[in-house]
Amino acid sequence: MAHGASRAVFSCACFYTNNIFIEQYQIHVRFTDEQQFTQEYHQALQSRGCCTPEKFAQVLEMVKKEVERRMKLGEESIQRKSEISLHYKPLHPELYVLQESFLAAEFLEAVHFCQSPHASLDGLLNFLDSIPGKRIYRLPVFVPQFCKDFVEELENFERSSLAKGRPNTMNNYGVLLNELGLDDAFITPLREKYLWPLASVLYPDWGGSCLDSHKAFVVQYSLDKDLDLSCHYDNSEVTLNVSLGKEFTDGNLYFSEMREIPANERRYTEVEHLIGQGILHRGQQIHGALPITSGERWNLIIWMRASLVRNKLCPMCDKEPRLIQTVGQGDGFTVTDKEVRAETVDVCAVL
Ligand SMILES: [Fe+2]
Ligand SMILES: [Zn+2]
Repeated sequence: MAHGASRAVFSCACFYTNNIFIEQYQIHVRFTDEQQFTQEYHQALQSRGCCTPEKFAQVLEMVKKEVERRMKLGEESIQRKSEISLHYKPLHPELYVLQESFLAAEFLEAVHFCQSPHASLDGLLNFLDSIPGKRIYRLPVFVPQFCKDFVEELENFERSSLAKGRPNTMNNYGVLLNELGLDDAFITPLREKYLWPLASVLYPDWGGSCLDSHKAFVVQYSLDKDLDLSCHYDNSEVTLNVSLGKEFTDGNLYFSEMREIPANERRYTEVEHLIGQGILHRGQQIHGALPITSGERWNLIIWMRASLVRNKLCPMCDKEPRLIQTVGQGDGFTVTDKEVRAETVDVCAVL
């Protein structure tokens, strides 16, 4: 479903306080006010090398800025999107509408199998590589020509002087595909027609058959930008991560257990990510990307959300979500029209 201007969108209140990543000290923090922050993180930050009052003040400033950025995110994103649609000249305008010719034959075969009357998980495994016991699956998604043209398009956009948003709190470089105008005719049909059948066979227990929204972005790694991606989990039920190129060495993805398994009990498996291939995984499976050692890497990430799952439990705060109506894309939570009007949100009553 496209995020039309008239449709109410929601984030969980935790978006404005939780999961703020401080890269320098490799820690996720929560911020409600200075006193809480100092009490909760002064020691932890000190033990990670943040050991002077000046350094602590710097961190505090950074955290406050991030909270401010999140508050303004929806509005600024709408603004950027409208500027882009007015002033950006695509290099490859044909890429903005999904065509079956962009998709790898293996991908189409797997999707057709999932749509057939004899679809089953066992049968589908003949069409994909799977990491034993991890529920991580890999298959070609796009043909090489598409990957090349798409990266060229993104580079063309990067060169433009138009304002750009950050993909998420952990990736500093990349492109938000919604702002570039790729949601309605590209990512949405990709999710609805192709990814939905795959996810409903692979992850029925994670809302795979009711993935009703997404956030899609491209992240960029190079020696002078982000090199790697620390261990984390996604704000999604199911994630697709496609390697688009260009040339790079190392930088494998690694996966561990689901987020509820304590850190000292986790084991990690590296997964090689080849150009054109996509990796499907549950959003809440801990993962990261090892550093690249040369070249430049672009990855398309689609965080797919199932409102039926997240309306019960917000994956980012692990509680029943406290919904806050916002603008822009929101985070995939829903309420009924009646509740929007009443402005009282009892999520349990919705389900
Ligand atoms: Fe991720
Ligand atoms: Zn939450």
